[in-house]
Amino acid sequence: MIAWHSRLSHLANPRASKEAEYPAELEAILSMADAEETYAEISAWPGYEATQLHQLSAIAEQIGIARLWYKDEAQRFGLGSFKALGGAYAVFVELKRIIEKQTREAVSIEDLIDKRYAELLASVVVSCATDGNHGRSVAWGAQLFGCRCVIYIHRDVSPAREKAIAAYGADVIRTCGNYDASVRQAAADAKAFDRIIVSDTSYPGYMETPKFVTRGYTVMLKEIVEELDGEIPTHVFIQGGVGGLASAVCGYLWQHWGEKRPRTIIVEPETANCLQQSARAGTPITVEGDLETLMAGLACGEVSPLAWQIISVGINDFVTLDEGSVGPCMRLLASGAYGDTKIIAGESAVAGLAALIAASQSGEMTQKLGLDNQSRVLIIGTEGATDPERYQSLLNSAD
Ligand SMILES: Cc1ncc(COP(=O)(O)O)c(C=O)c1O
Repeated sequence: MIAWHSRLSHLANPRASKEAEYPAELEAILSMADAEETYAEISAWPGYEATQLHQLSAIAEQIGIARLWYKDEAQRFGLGSFKALGGAYAVFVELKRIIEKQTREAVSIEDLIDKRYAELLASVVVSCATDGNHGRSVAWGAQLFGCRCVIYIHRDVSPAREKAIAAYGADVIRTCGNYDASVRQAAADAKAFDRIIVSDTSYPGYMETPKFVTRGYTVMLKEIVEELDGEIPTHVFIQGGVGGLASAVCGYLWQHWGEKRPRTIIVEPETANCLQQSARAGTPITVEGDLETLMAGLACGEVSPLAWQIISVGINDFVTLDEGSVGPCMRLLASGAYGDTKIIAGESAVAGLAALIAASQSGEMTQKLGLDNQSRVLIIGTEGATDPERYQSLLNSAD
């Protein structure tokens, strides 16, 4: 019997309705045509392979739902998380744009991989702030497509994550504030040193490039729809940091399935619930403080305004999860308990599943989220052991 003590909070979004059509104005942020174009590009990259969609039938039975799918992003391009799709793609788009502007020639993926424009790109530097995974993606993209890279990490990013970014040849700079402060520092330095910011979060005056990051994530959603082979989930539980991922999930599935789309539930750490607080206020709200959480990828206090446009009208529920459920959920997946596949899931990957399990143990939450024995739930396991030491210590810990 799966049982652990969790604390959840819930907010229903009064602005979202299942019957509403995808608003036409949101196509400027994310359209199916954009998603198709992005898939055509990324699926041609070396090493591209669709990640697996596991069925976790034993856990589904334990928690009293009909189906449970887990999209496992641990193997994505060997980088360990779905973020490999976003940052690197935006680097590709930026470099292509620079070369085409200067040469007036059409540039292909092969041109970049073969470093045909190495001379022209020698002075180009891409940069961003990260809590780990996005920076790894941008650094990998810079190495793959041939430009320089400077990545900013905040005071709480672990040394293992720092090392993983540096391994792709990036210069890594550690700042002293929280994640949001590192975003501002990267932006200010980019202005001073003429670097191109490739950020996964948008902010006033910087709204174009993050669209391409979000489009990169849709590759994963196209794969999911194909792997589901005609089945439609009733619910999706998705982790929220700045909201880029949730906006891609919501925007893509909304356009693909229309009013049959699943109820979409964002899960955030209690300490970094900027999306839930913004939904409560009806406008983007900043969560101050050190944003400390085990779920490092979700330690964000400021919403991406671009993502907010989709989230504010498309996400049905906002849930927060306490820290105590993270380790048990990682251990549950790693052990393959009850006969399901064994899965390596990092701290930020398990938030969705941990919230689903916790909700299934509370009569009040099952009712609020409309969960019952007919529910078919999709979870996205957004990372593997991206910090192997921390992963191991959480696996070994008994609480
Ligand atoms: C593993 C993981 N899951 C989920 C997220 C949340 O994505 P977003 O910040 O786009 O909401 C992140 C962000 O870094 C992440 O690293």
